[in-house]
Amino acid sequence: MEFQLTQDQQMLREMVRQFAEQQGAPSAAMRDEAGLWPSELVRQMGDLGLMGVAVDEAYGGAGLDYVSYALAIEELSRVDASLGVIASVNNSLVCYGIEQFGTPEQKRDLLTPLASGAMLGAFSLSEPGAGSDAAAQKSRAVRDGNDYVINGIKNWVTNGDHADLILLMALTEPSRGVKGITAFLADPHQPGCSIVKVEHKLGIRSAHSCQMAYDNFRIPAWRRLGEEGQGFKIAMSILNAGRIGIAAQAVGIAQGAYEAALNYTKVREQFGRPIHEFQAVGFTLADMATRIKAARLLTYEAAWRKDQGLDFIKDASMAKLFASETAMWVTTKAIQLYGSNGYSKEYPVERFFRDAKITEIYEGTSEIQRLVISRELVRS
Ligand code: CAA
Repeated sequence: MEFQLTQDQQMLREMVRQFAEQQGAPSAAMRDEAGLWPSELVRQMGDLGLMGVAVDEAYGGAGLDYVSYALAIEELSRVDASLGVIASVNNSLVCYGIEQFGTPEQKRDLLTPLASGAMLGAFSLSEPGAGSDAAAQKSRAVRDGNDYVINGIKNWVTNGDHADLILLMALTEPSRGVKGITAFLADPHQPGCSIVKVEHKLGIRSAHSCQMAYDNFRIPAWRRLGEEGQGFKIAMSILNAGRIGIAAQAVGIAQGAYEAALNYTKVREQFGRPIHEFQAVGFTLADMATRIKAARLLTYEAAWRKDQGLDFIKDASMAKLFASETAMWVTTKAIQLYGSNGYSKEYPVERFFRDAKITEIYEGTSEIQRLVISRELVRS
């Protein structure tokens, strides 16, 4: 058993930490307040290889492993969870899907610009009536010559208003239910695709989540991902891997809040001494650090299992479940340690607290993770 990161992994972590602290941190609070999309930072993440960390170099990626990918998302999110999710969606919900299921032509023409950061990807499964019940799709795709014609509404499309490609699920054969769903690689710049609204959100406000409409929107048949009817399985396989990214995001958020709170307890004095000297505070810090370590180990182990070609569905869900609940717990405690200052936007912990909540919801709620874990336990 080996608990040491490789030299490459350590170097990547250091590089991402420096980028996040030097380039991301100064504007994080302002971007959060204004809901401002970080165009320049997204471009820089592409230049640094952070939009296709685990994609093969032959397709424009950095060619690293999934542990490295988790490290990158963790370090981005330690400073700004919005950067974490923008990168995570592109890496694991879009690039990974095309690398796994795409044709050579799709990999050459679409994966390569996505992984190198020249294009940005989004993933579109959720609908007004299809959240946790992802199979309840209503969007339709009807074959017409060499195209499919899409009509429908999609919700919660992260990166939607800046995306150059959307991995989109729609029903080609409604009578077949879950086996009638097909995946497409849509070009949202074509006519018939529009942004209905950009959500006004509690957290990750600098990353945009959109409702999008498709109105007689055409997708050429070569952009179908996999076969007709395989879309649901493709979406589920993608989410299995994506959940490792969200677990890493949650670890990063928790770590950022913990470090801020730890530093604060060293400088904040009450009753004539720094507050970390009070046992109640010290014990809270101890619990925060312990839970973060456990969440991090679960996350790295899930990524490592994926790298080894082992089953990782249960492990990814366990990591996401535990890390997201840890992020919520740690950020709540961080505000408590700051007292009323923690409730103020002058300090960073209220942002971490707001950002943490979504990790318990997207890419499958905590309840869905428990469902996946319990099914896998019985299966094995
Ligand atoms: N991996 C691979 N295949 C899977 C799978 C998994 N985790 N889960 C299900 N499948 C397959 C099944 O094997 C089955 O195929 P077969 O019949 O050939 O065996 C098929 O999919 C249907 O499976 P189920 O009957 O189990 O489907 P279900 O409807 O009962 O439940 C669910 C599925 C697990 C509840 C699923 O709907 C789910 O994961 N829901 C959560 C949705 C989700 O995570 N949404 C996130 C939206 S994306 C997002 O947040 C994006 C963002 O921008 C950040």
